[in-house]
Amino acid sequence: MEIKELVYKTRSYRRFHESYAVDRETLVALIDLARHSASGSNKQPLKFFLSYNPETNAVIFPNTRWAGYLEDWGGPALGERPSAYIVILGDTRISDSFGVDHGIAAQSIMLGATERGLGGCIIGSVQKVKLQRELALPEHYQILLVIALGKPNEKVVIEPVGEDGDIKYWRDENGIHHVPKRSLDELIIS
Ligand SMILES: Cc1cc2nc3c(=O)[nH]c(=O)nc-3n(C[C@H](O)[C@H](O)[C@H](O)COP(=O)(O)O)c2cc1C
Repeated sequence: MEIKELVYKTRSYRRFHESYAVDRETLVALIDLARHSASGSNKQPLKFFLSYNPETNAVIFPNTRWAGYLEDWGGPALGERPSAYIVILGDTRISDSFGVDHGIAAQSIMLGATERGLGGCIIGSVQKVKLQRELALPEHYQILLVIALGKPNEKVVIEPVGEDGDIKYWRDENGIHHVPKRSLDELIIS
């Protein structure tokens, strides 16, 4: 897949074929992409917690918040939830600030997932204190992001932002998820 196709296909998916298992080997390969990504001052302060079994997934899921703009939707139902998660952690023994490292790592992971026929969603809205306790993560780790992963079970299409400038994504009557993106003309200022 060329980079343009890979990036265009790398959408946020929030409904999955939950019975489709994502194995540890796949997650490790995705972390290897994160490992090769840029890191401020090359400190490489990120660590990763992998979840790929129903028991641990069931601990993580209730601590995540989904699609704030879809007010009538409570998040993925049983059977359409992610098959795996990567919890991105900052190791405070290495650094007390993590800059944008976790964003870069997250995108590398998302691109790798797309290449493998998977999809995911970067989740920043996480009950971090509760999740840290429930996963028994040592205090020196700081939860930064959760990436939900699985075999997508929804269609996502990109739309131009309309005249009204509304950037809220929406889901149509056929369950297709629409994501407005601003035009290049709007983004490039000179
Ligand atoms: C830092 C960050 C945090 C995000 N947090 C959430 C979240 O908590 N819940 C969610 O459903 N989506 C979350 N998203 C996904 C965005 O809503 C999504 O990227 C946006 O709607 C655009 O869709 P696209 O990724 O398909 O381009 C997050 C994305 C980023 C980059």
